[in-house]
Amino acid sequence: MEMNHLQELLIEDLKDLYNAEQQLLKAMPKMVKKASHPDLKEAFEMHLKETQGQVKRLEQVFDALGAKAKGKTCHAMKGLIEEATELMGEDAEPDVLDAGLIGAAQKVEHYEIASYGTARTYARLLGNEQAARLLQQTLDEEGNTDKKLTALAESSINIEAADMDDEDVAMQQSPRRSSGGSSRSGSSRSGSRSSSKSRSRR
Ligand SMILES: [Fe+2]
Repeated sequence: MEMNHLQELLIEDLKDLYNAEQQLLKAMPKMVKKASHPDLKEAFEMHLKETQGQVKRLEQVFDALGAKAKGKTCHAMKGLIEEATELMGEDAEPDVLDAGLIGAAQKVEHYEIASYGTARTYARLLGNEQAARLLQQTLDEEGNTDKKLTALAESSINIEAADMDDEDVAMQQSPRRSSGGSSRSGSSRSGSRSSSKSRSRR
């Protein structure tokens, strides 16, 4: 294929993204199902809805560039989803799986952030403000999702996953924190954290 102009490169990148988002639409319901923590389930559900809008928005971008909306296999997303699927096939404790799912989702987000950022910049360089604005909108959504996932990981989910680990190894090793009863009773799972809704935009 000939690619002599930045516009052609942009359209190739958009085909990659269009396919990547569609792969995600298929993969995310399983992630919603596999997530245990209600906040994580909610975050995945919300991003699934957002992704439907992002596919539509990409169609508007193709339109703004006078190109036909078309996908081309995104091998990177395929690989990332394969890894997430592998993870979901593991016999993991729910908290540990949640931590793994956050990691897998953030790899996806970072791929998308890089790709949308690049596409937005190309559109801007080409002087197509409409395309640039649409791509920026999705870029903002992906960025917010990434931040929300970081907040979830740092709040309770990874901590609970680590707790679980302590319990599992407590019998085999001589941990410093073996006294004081079960570290899991009275877990802060649902209570102590404010809802993710209140922090969706910063
Ligand atoms: Fe997306």
